[in-house]
Amino acid sequence: MKNLFSNMTDEQYIEYIRRQKKEFGKSLIILAHHYQNSEIVKLGDVVGDSYKLAVEGNRSEAEFIVFCGVRFMAEGAKILANPNQKVLIPDITAGCPMADMINIDLAQKAYDVLSERSDKKIRPVVYINSYADIKHFCGTLDGSVCASSNAKKIVEYYLNKGESVFFFPDYNLGVNTATLLNIDNETASINKNLQIKGDVSNSKMILWDGYCHVHKTFTVSDIENLKRRYDNIKILVHPECSKATAELSDIIGSTEQIYEAVKNAESGSIMGIGTEGSFVERLSKEFPDKTILHLRDSRCPNMLKITLKKLAHSIQSIIDNQNAGTPYKFEIPEIALYKEGAKKTLNKMIEIVEGGK
Ligand code: 13P
Ligand code: SF4
Repeated sequence: MKNLFSNMTDEQYIEYIRRQKKEFGKSLIILAHHYQNSEIVKLGDVVGDSYKLAVEGNRSEAEFIVFCGVRFMAEGAKILANPNQKVLIPDITAGCPMADMINIDLAQKAYDVLSERSDKKIRPVVYINSYADIKHFCGTLDGSVCASSNAKKIVEYYLNKGESVFFFPDYNLGVNTATLLNIDNETASINKNLQIKGDVSNSKMILWDGYCHVHKTFTVSDIENLKRRYDNIKILVHPECSKATAELSDIIGSTEQIYEAVKNAESGSIMGIGTEGSFVERLSKEFPDKTILHLRDSRCPNMLKITLKKLAHSIQSIIDNQNAGTPYKFEIPEIALYKEGAKKTLNKMIEIVEGGK
């Protein structure tokens, strides 16, 4: 297998992957997150944000789901998959540092401390950027997953029941959601040392202090600089950006929502975008009639670990497995211990979002 791929050009990998996709037909699907490089995006059967990919992965009946994104996304697909479906990721080391900022023990301890301080029922809502253990934790307490495209809807669902929400791991998504819901003065926070800021008993949302290092870099002066240079610029940011940058923006949205906003903007529009840099670069190439600018060029090294060569290896490993029984490169294992709660809570998100349409 090594020899087959050792000296191939990108064009040859693309040609190989295209050919295999034809051979496999409906039994193989490639899901590609928006932060993947342009060539991988072109090979994706579905391209989207975390929510869209979770839903489409769930709908797919393909025997092989190859997930071009980071591990929590592929893990989510495996949790929702049928027992006969295999989920592969071209590089198993493609993690998400934010997802590592909380685990089941910490979540449980924080939840216990918060529950002692509140008369109201506290419901856990976990950002999809997380691993199976804390999704399961959330499921055991009848909470829900949320994604960047639907956090407002999910949090609102529990607030409408008179409950408060423990939101983790991303602080910025939490605080930007609270702002959208007009409850940003009714939040508290808790960190990994279980130190609490604010009044839990009078808070509607209690936020964990996790963050995305890629989105944390955008500043108010990045936006001010662009606004000085371009009078009629529109600013779009991902909700993992700080509250201060979100407040200066015209649109706050998931990667899919940003993509749609750029696509639907009038020709000649000028847009400054605060999200992962390779995605912003792709938008500017895909929509050359619009001026698409980085707030600053900040890239996700984990997303970019997925390459054409690794994708080709992943697909080749399916063929090798069928011919010689060798292991897949790399298969997401069955998440036995945490599957039940994690599946329940992912399905809860889908039910709240799709049910409300
Ligand atoms: P989206 O769900 O908006 O695609 O975001 C995923 C992500 O990891 C952003 O950093
Ligand atoms: Fe994780 Fe940030 Fe990369 Fe998204 S951009 S995968 S949140 S590190």
